[in-house]
This record gives sequence, structure tokens and C-alpha cells, in this order.
Amino acid sequence: MISRSLAQRVVLQQPDWPDAEALAQVERELADLPALTTEDEIVDLARGMALVAQGSALVLQGGDCAERFEDAVPERVRQRADHLQGLAAGMRAGARLPTVAIGRMAGQYAKPRSSPFEESAKGERLLTYRGDAVNDPAPDRWRRVADPRRLITAYECAALTLGELRRSWSGRPLTERVFASHELLLMPYESPLVRAGVRGDYAGSTHFGWIGERTRNLGGAHLELARTVNNPIGVKIGPSMAPSEAAELSRLLNPEGIAGRLTFIVRAGAHEVDRVLPPVVEEVARSGAPVVWMCDPMHGNGQIRSGVKTRAVAAVLQEVTSFVRVLRSLRQWPAGGLHLELTPDPVTECLPAHVDDMDFTDYRSSCDPRLNPEQSAEVISRFVALL
Ligand code: PEP
Ligand code: CO
Repeated sequence: MISRSLAQRVVLQQPDWPDAEALAQVERELADLPALTTEDEIVDLARGMALVAQGSALVLQGGDCAERFEDAVPERVRQRADHLQGLAAGMRAGARLPTVAIGRMAGQYAKPRSSPFEESAKGERLLTYRGDAVNDPAPDRWRRVADPRRLITAYECAALTLGELRRSWSGRPLTERVFASHELLLMPYESPLVRAGVRGDYAGSTHFGWIGERTRNLGGAHLELARTVNNPIGVKIGPSMAPSEAAELSRLLNPEGIAGRLTFIVRAGAHEVDRVLPPVVEEVARSGAPVVWMCDPMHGNGQIRSGVKTRAVAAVLQEVTSFVRVLRSLRQWPAGGLHLELTPDPVTECLPAHVDDMDFTDYRSSCDPRLNPEQSAEVISRFVALL
């Protein structure tokens, strides 16, 4: 099922699937199912991303860290999509630029993890939760075993979610639609959903796919997958990114220099972005190919407070500020937009600005902490004010 060019490569961050035969069966089923997205939709998004690369539009990508199957019901999909659309409208109004909205939706069901095990509150050693497409977050050793049938459920939930997104598109121009995106992580899901289009192969699992900080190893299977599909793609850039490596990624993933094809999603951390970003941007600019520079001010700013994984909005705002200033001062490419983990629910997962610690009374995320609506609006208005 996995194509020959992928099979020979190192593939990081895959769960340990105990039942190989059941997994192979699932891959065959996925290969026989229709693609979730169409090539035409992907071309539409690519046009939007080209505008972003040229500085005539902005992009807002956002949603849950780990999307849940239980949220694949029409009402919740509409709520999430409307929320993101509302935030994008705020960005559009504030910056007076069309804004492309991309949800971490309809497939954001797989998570890379820094450790394969964790300890439960009861002191039991458990496999880590790897997203609803793999296992169940409940702290129970059996529910943490990777179940390949969940890949089929992921497909069904993504199909329902995309159907609902499309219904919300009717009559809207492309800069007012919410497109789908997720991290291209699980090969047994992504590979069978790669489909041949008239312009070449595309990832039929989503509109926009990104490669995470933990799987962007040069020569690895994830970059090879990204290289061979025509979708607009993103690569996360963390503090360890060498300028030469970023330029190599740009050559590998966008050899023809198509505006909007490649987005670098910078997640360096508030204290690192000033050091990391300038040489990377300069080296990429020397190679000449256009890149969309997006700021993810979430993933470099994690901290533990009261035993809880959180992020301070103050650090998020600081990273956004530094990111925009660096790009402005280099005058190479405009700041293209934001990549946020957010929810329409009034959660208390991130520390509000000027708050050091708190009771996390409404913490619902099954993975990373998300911005609540008020916090998301604050981050977006900071970004817009700096442009
Ligand atoms: C994520 O976006 O949820 C994620 C895991 O990001 P990164 O690859 O940047 O750590
Ligand atoms: Co996350």
C-alpha cells in the first residue's frame, strides 16, 4: 500500500500497531474509499495561499491540538467553523486584507509525542495518547492500545466534518471559506488516501497538510510524502532549524518556486524567535522561492503550572510581536498569518496575560492547551496591530 518511494525511508512517530493483519486490511479499505477532498478544492486553496505569499492576503489556521471524534457532529462542526470564520473576519477587517481560514479540522486526529509512555495519576505506566485515530485518551492500559479500526472511524469523522464545512461554503468567495488541514503523520492513513489528479498526485485526506517539528527529518518518509503531493503544504520550524536546512526544505518541497505551495510555520518560542528566525529567513530568501511565513506562537511556549500543561498568553503575544518585527525588518516576505490552537469553548487552559498561576477549572483539551475565544481575539488583534 505504501508506495515504494515511501517504504524505503525512515518513518518516525508511528504507533506500535499490535495487529499487523488488521492494519493491512484497514489500508486496503482506505484505498478503496473515495478521496475526502477534491483536486479542485485544493487548487482553490492553493490560489488563496498564493495571494498570502504575495502579501495580498493573510491566513489564519486554527483549531484543536487533538481534534476529537465526538466533535464530528454537525452542530459542533458548525460551531468550530463559525468561530474560526469569525476570527478570520476580525483579521480581515483589522488588516483590510482578505483572509484565508484553515481549520485544524476534518482529520487532526493523530499526535506525535515526545515519549511513548506516561505515568497515570495512579502511578501506572501507560502508552501515551496519540490522537483519536490511534487510541483513547482515557487512562486505561487497554484503551491506549493502538487500534487500526480507528483509522476508518477517522475517515468517517473527517468525511462528515468536510461535508459540513462544504455546506457552509455555499455562495462564499474562497477567502471566506474554512478549509481543512491536519498534520500528515500516520502513513497507513495518508498513503492510501494519496490520489492521482489531473495535475499529479494529491493528498486526498485534506486540503492543506503539514509536517510536524518531530517528523521533518530530511530523507524521511514524511517529507517524501509532502514532496510527492500537490496540496499546499506546511513544515513546522522549531528552534533547532539550521538556515541551510530550511533552504534545503524549500528546494526539495517547492523546486518550481510556486507561490503558496510551501508555508513555514515558525514555532521557535518567545525567547528564541529573535535569534532563530533572521538567518533562516535570509537563507531561504537567497534561494529565491516564495514562502508563506506563518507564526505558531503556541508550540514553543509550553510550561507546567499546578501540574498542568499550559501556555502563557503573554509569551504567545511576545512571540507574535517578535515574529512580525523580524519579518518587517528583513523586508523579504510579509508576515503571512497565524497558526493557533484554539476552541470556541470558554476553557481555562492557557494563562491569561498578567496571571502567573490559576486553577484550571475548565481544562478540556486531551492534548495541548488551547486559547479560548477572548484569548484568540487578543492574539489576532496584536498580530493585526503590528502589520
Ligand atoms: C501540533 O501542531 O500540535 C504539534 C505537535 O506541533 P509541532 O510539530 O510544532 O510540535
Ligand atoms: Co499541539
